[in-house]
Amino acid sequence: MLRIHVRNERPEDRRAVEELTKKAFWNVNVPGCDEHYLVHVLREHADFVPALDLVAEADGRLIGNLMAAKGRLLDEAGESREVLSFGPLSVHPAYQRRGVGKRLLAEGFRRAEALGFDAIVIFGNPDNYTARGFESCLKHRIYVGDHIYPAAMLVKELKPGALRDGVERQYVESAAYHYLPADAEAFDRDFEPMEKGWAPTQEMFYILRHSTLRE
Ligand SMILES: CC(C)(COP(=O)(O)OP(=O)(O)OC[C@H]1O[C@@H](n2cnc3c(N)ncnc32)[C@H](O)[C@@H]1OP(=O)(O)O)[C@@H](O)C(=O)NCCC(=O)NCCS
Repeated sequence: MLRIHVRNERPEDRRAVEELTKKAFWNVNVPGCDEHYLVHVLREHADFVPALDLVAEADGRLIGNLMAAKGRLLDEAGESREVLSFGPLSVHPAYQRRGVGKRLLAEGFRRAEALGFDAIVIFGNPDNYTARGFESCLKHRIYVGDHIYPAAMLVKELKPGALRDGVERQYVESAAYHYLPADAEAFDRDFEPMEKGWAPTQEMFYILRHSTLRE
């Protein structure tokens, strides 16, 4: 069994985390990936939560990373409350499906709760998250834009019932997750080249990205 150790990211881990993020996401959602650049800029943003910047180690190397940032939930009465967003979550391809992602999420939940957050929003393939307690945003009445409920937007309550009061809320993602693709492309030039190509996961990503829910 893999002995996994989870701890906070240290400044000297940064490059290794970016390299493993590139390897984890390469060709998964689209040909190539930008997530290693996202990780790089996220760390510098005011909404980034350093206490939830976690790495997983095993076999004496860095094999996983979870990052988080603060977002907002706005209700129609104009009230705003803070919510936590998880992502990116990366596990080195050689270590996937061995419980590393599960461990990073479990530690992230524990620490997020200790920091006083009552819910987490994530965009991802529900297959990866429903077993970890994430539920459809529709159940929690959390939407984006003009009452759009994305199939890939999932919510986990850390305090049971925190968002089950029937109030509709708009999720406003932190600008920390927004970047220029050209900047990501330039940043990637400093990394070991990998070949862009097609993978069936890209079709799943496309389907999920364009799927919305309604009752
Ligand atoms: C998605 C990702 C983070 C998951 O991390 P992981 O370490 O591979 O996942 P885990 O081993 O913790 O397992 C998660 C689930 O995978 C499945 N799984 C685990 N081991 C498995 C195995 N040997 N065979 C088949 N499925 C397995 C299970 O459903 C498991 O949940 P369960 O333990 O409740 O049954 C990782 O695969 C990854 O980095 N992928 C590429 C980047 C990405 O897509 N990130 C997420 C963006 S939203």
